[in-house]
Amino acid sequence: RGKRAFIAGVADDNGYGWAIAQALAAAGAEILVGTWVPALNIFETSLRRGKFDESRKLPDGSLMEITKVYPLDAVFDSPDDVPDDVKANKRYAGSSNWTVKEVAETVKNDFGTIDILVHSLANGPEVKSPLLETSRKGYLAAVSASSYSFISLLQHFLPIMNPGGSTISLTYIASERTIPGYGGGMSSAKAALESDTRVLAYEAGRRGKIRVNTISAGPLGSRAAKAIGFIEKIIEYSYVNAPLQKELLAEEVGNTAAFLASPLASAITGSTIYVDNGLNTMGLAL
Ligand code: NAI
Repeated sequence: RGKRAFIAGVADDNGYGWAIAQALAAAGAEILVGTWVPALNIFETSLRRGKFDESRKLPDGSLMEITKVYPLDAVFDSPDDVPDDVKANKRYAGSSNWTVKEVAETVKNDFGTIDILVHSLANGPEVKSPLLETSRKGYLAAVSASSYSFISLLQHFLPIMNPGGSTISLTYIASERTIPGYGGGMSSAKAALESDTRVLAYEAGRRGKIRVNTISAGPLGSRAAKAIGFIEKIIEYSYVNAPLQKELLAEEVGNTAAFLASPLASAITGSTIYVDNGLNTMGLAL
């Protein structure tokens, strides 16, 4: 039987989530995705109208199939957590069962089990503010959407993950080195995500023989990154200063995720794996 993957955080064909889906599909996995509720409509419409067909091409010439798209808002664990204004919001009211608990239940009802869980989502409402000017609310929102969301997904999906399964999240070097501009508590959120990767690797490893790793990716001009504002500058900086002076392709992160999800990586867990053309190793580039 082929493996089944649930990838949370796909809403277009530009980001790391899409590239990971492509690489897993190319390796023969069945693809389920979780799409942020406010982005669901446009994503499904674009898919249906063939807007992503070029990006769906797999190496063998076939097109990636997404078996099912689940609406998801990973800042809510169960319906009790959803405030009234969100419930009343048109876009949310038009979908159902999008809290983490409900999505896991729906996947269980639809397919029984999964083998691979990918967390490719982040959100920091105050990302443009320096940490020193970040509000408590903004900081906690960044950690809720970008770090706790992984704990919640793992908590709810672990019971339906087959032993030997693998989970992967995406992180950024701002967790360990200062990157001015990556504010609003996003650097803190990534530090939490990396620390949690180690602790959850222990807990999920002992409990369900599940591996937990995170990919520290170099810069990519995704929708989320463009919202931060200075992504082009960071891409240029990386190109100039990294050991490998080449563009970083989302596909290279996708391929690493496929490796990490495969038996080739059966002894790798709790790790932060850099896929950044080596930039993290530099002190001073000349
Ligand atoms: P992206 O825009 O493709 O992915 C972010 C996704 O998160 C979007 O689809 C968005 O709809 C979704 N999302 C936001 N809040 C959500 C919520 N509450 N519930 C469910 N989904 C939600 O952008 P990208 O850059 O590919 O991001 C994927 C991951 O890669 C993130 O964790 C990001 O921090 C990480 N990363 C990105 C880098 C970059 O330069 N683009 C560098 C290193 C890490």
